[in-house]
Amino acid sequence: MGDSGIENLLQESRTFPPPAAFASKAVGTADLYTEADEDFVAYWTRQAKERITWFKEPKQGLDDSNAPFFTWFQDGKLNISYNCLDRHLADGGDKVAYHWVGEPGDTRTITYRELSDEVNRFANGLLSLGIEKGDRVAIYMGMVPELTIAMLACARIGAPHSVIFGGFSAESIVDRVNDQEAKLLITCDGAWRRGTVVPLKENCDAAMESTPSVEHCIVFDRTGAKVSMSDGRDVWWHDLVAQQSTECEPESMNAEDLLFILYTSGTTAKPKGIMHTTGGYLTGAATTHALVFDLKPDSDVYWCAADIGWVTGHTYIVYGPLTNHTTSVMYEGTPDYPDKDRLWSIIEQYGVTIFYTAPTAIRAFMKWGVEYPQQHDLSSLRLLGTVGEPINPAAWMWYQENIGPKDCPIVDTWWQTETGGIMISPLPGVTTTKPGSATRPLPGIFAQVVDVEGDPVPLGGGGFLTITKPWPSMLRSIYGDDKRYISTYWERYPGAYFAGDGAKTDEDGDFWILGRVDDVMNISGHRISTMEVESALVSHPTVAEAAVVGATDDLTGQAIAAFVTLRGTATESDELLEELRDHVAMKIGAIAKPKTIIFTPDLPKTRSGKIMRRLLRDISDNRTLGDVTTLANAEVVAAIAEQSGGK
Ligand code: WTA
Repeated sequence: MGDSGIENLLQESRTFPPPAAFASKAVGTADLYTEADEDFVAYWTRQAKERITWFKEPKQGLDDSNAPFFTWFQDGKLNISYNCLDRHLADGGDKVAYHWVGEPGDTRTITYRELSDEVNRFANGLLSLGIEKGDRVAIYMGMVPELTIAMLACARIGAPHSVIFGGFSAESIVDRVNDQEAKLLITCDGAWRRGTVVPLKENCDAAMESTPSVEHCIVFDRTGAKVSMSDGRDVWWHDLVAQQSTECEPESMNAEDLLFILYTSGTTAKPKGIMHTTGGYLTGAATTHALVFDLKPDSDVYWCAADIGWVTGHTYIVYGPLTNHTTSVMYEGTPDYPDKDRLWSIIEQYGVTIFYTAPTAIRAFMKWGVEYPQQHDLSSLRLLGTVGEPINPAAWMWYQENIGPKDCPIVDTWWQTETGGIMISPLPGVTTTKPGSATRPLPGIFAQVVDVEGDPVPLGGGGFLTITKPWPSMLRSIYGDDKRYISTYWERYPGAYFAGDGAKTDEDGDFWILGRVDDVMNISGHRISTMEVESALVSHPTVAEAAVVGATDDLTGQAIAAFVTLRGTATESDELLEELRDHVAMKIGAIAKPKTIIFTPDLPKTRSGKIMRRLLRDISDNRTLGDVTTLANAEVVAAIAEQSGGK
């Protein structure tokens, strides 16, 4: 495989068949795969009709006549806020939509009827400011219910929204607002973060000096922080909605009308405005949310602990759960405030049954120690999920053993901002899971691992992950840049979508995601995934987290440099260093033995928790550090650089 694919080094043989009790009541069933394999367009069309209330039912399924500009359900008409709210009110309006928990400890319980009233009032408020169907609205808020209300109100009147993560700077707001020429900016006075207030409105003020398209800024009063309000431009949320009616007619939207733009930063280039439309996106969101999370709307308390500023929050906090009439938990703050048991205490308090988080969070829980989850009764949990990065088998096992009850199914869900919804994941109750594998493409999704030339890699080999058939919730383009849409996703392997990730399959046909292809190392001509070496390191009992990169090496082209964070109880020593190098050699082979290992208290991460290997490469190669402004923890980079020899 050396020349054209990626090595397959890490072998993992533990398997977990679905527990019988779970399987007998599971929402997903094996026959869905057969149905979708026979006719994937018919399968998705059935989902679209059964899960969504249409104003006008679509007659068309997929239109691929103008590939890669695919459309789905093109002649259908619907409104997303109607699907999330109105249709549940007749006999489910009193059901709780969100148990919201504020970081300082305040809580709100919001029923579907209350949510609907607020959305309607705010939608009328938007109309009163002159926002019309098609106008873009940028939203820069913390994790408050008003963020959801703002998104749904935009969807109600047909104004595409674009949520900007509340941890971004004024400069990031400027780039994103200007790219889409947003007419309105919605924000909060501030957001709570570890007991202090992040000055969201102040950041907007700085941004609005360079955003000529913005006519108004609506400000929700969350923290009571003092903010300046510019006359004629800025409006308080409470003033805007005070006199508004709780009835606002939902706009009848075409299935292919733009629902939202969400910017993905990539590692270097200008952010891409990923476009998602209405009918296909909602079909994907509702279907995957119900099947992958085995959702029982009458009994489940579901919690996706992501931020709505990421696609995970769009699809699995807002649109999927509300369409499916779910009761969700929504939490404003960080997992370690006021203490490291915050999430576990919320699970205990609300009796959460389904919990979805990211590997980066799981690795932090491992580092903090099991005493935190052990302080709480987590027995209500029945399903766990992860998303965002490859999960190391050791972290997967830790999650199952310390958070879930015995044999709790875990769904490792692979997807992207671009895919709109989950693509590769176990169906709980159907799929036998393996720690570290996202297992199989969902029914109606078709994936293939290929080599550099685009030829299929046989089972057991590694290469590049492609999606071979269109799916309803796929991105439609990059806002204002169709050319970049084609060149980024469709040119490398004609006819297939290139995801930018490496992957391998095993003999059973299960998929193992190997991480971004930019991160793949080349050691003496062997392409080795950083993820496999990291997993080998994390399988050592002293290691909580590891990042490896290929550092330039005269002899081997690249040499493996590892950065390792130890678990709470372990101590750094030269002996441990040698032990870890040997451990990797033993686990996956001498070729993957790190040349250097540096202990570090933390790793550089993006604000969505992904490890930034690019910066570690800069450090290893003694280069000037690249852009660190998108980092969540910029200070750690300088510390690592110093430790690795003042580079
Ligand atoms: C990575 C997040 C391995 C992958 C929904 C992808 C994963 C990128 C997984 C998209 C997973 C996401 N296993 N890797 N289960 N889930 N990724 O756009 O590299 O923030 O391309 O979407 O995260 O990140 P994004």
